[in-house]
Amino acid sequence: MKIEKAIVLDHAIQRDLFKQLLDTSGDSDNRRQLFEQVKHELAIHADAEERYFYVPLIKIDATQDDARHGIAEHHEIEELVEKVEEADFDSSAWLKHAKNLAGKVLHHLDEEEQDYFPKADKVLSDEQASELGDQYLSAMKEARRNED
Ligand SMILES: [Fe+2]
Ligand SMILES: [Fe+2]
Repeated sequence: MKIEKAIVLDHAIQRDLFKQLLDTSGDSDNRRQLFEQVKHELAIHADAEERYFYVPLIKIDATQDDARHGIAEHHEIEELVEKVEEADFDSSAWLKHAKNLAGKVLHHLDEEEQDYFPKADKVLSDEQASELGDQYLSAMKEARRNED
């Protein structure tokens, strides 16, 4: 599977998790559980995506700046995750930080799909894209196997 396709499947998981998370209320098990899932999903995706998408693109002149920008956004997202984590789960601050995080992530996913994927498509051969996709998928499979 090509890397872009593999990534998009996991972006769908993130979009769905955020929708569910923002629908929770108060300091509930549901909210805590969904937040842990979001946090985990963001972390394992960012790690595999950097390895099998951004690192190869950073080596190519035409995509170097975008790849750097994408990785920088992963760090910003990590910081927003910490802000949510530090707030009381039943406070209005929690909801504010969770909404900020969701907004940032959704913007990031759209930018990857609409801006970076078409550019990556131009600089990677079909063979490279498929190889990276397979490596991405097996890294994600491994990360999910290590859950709990
Ligand atoms: Fe990303
Ligand atoms: Fe992504």
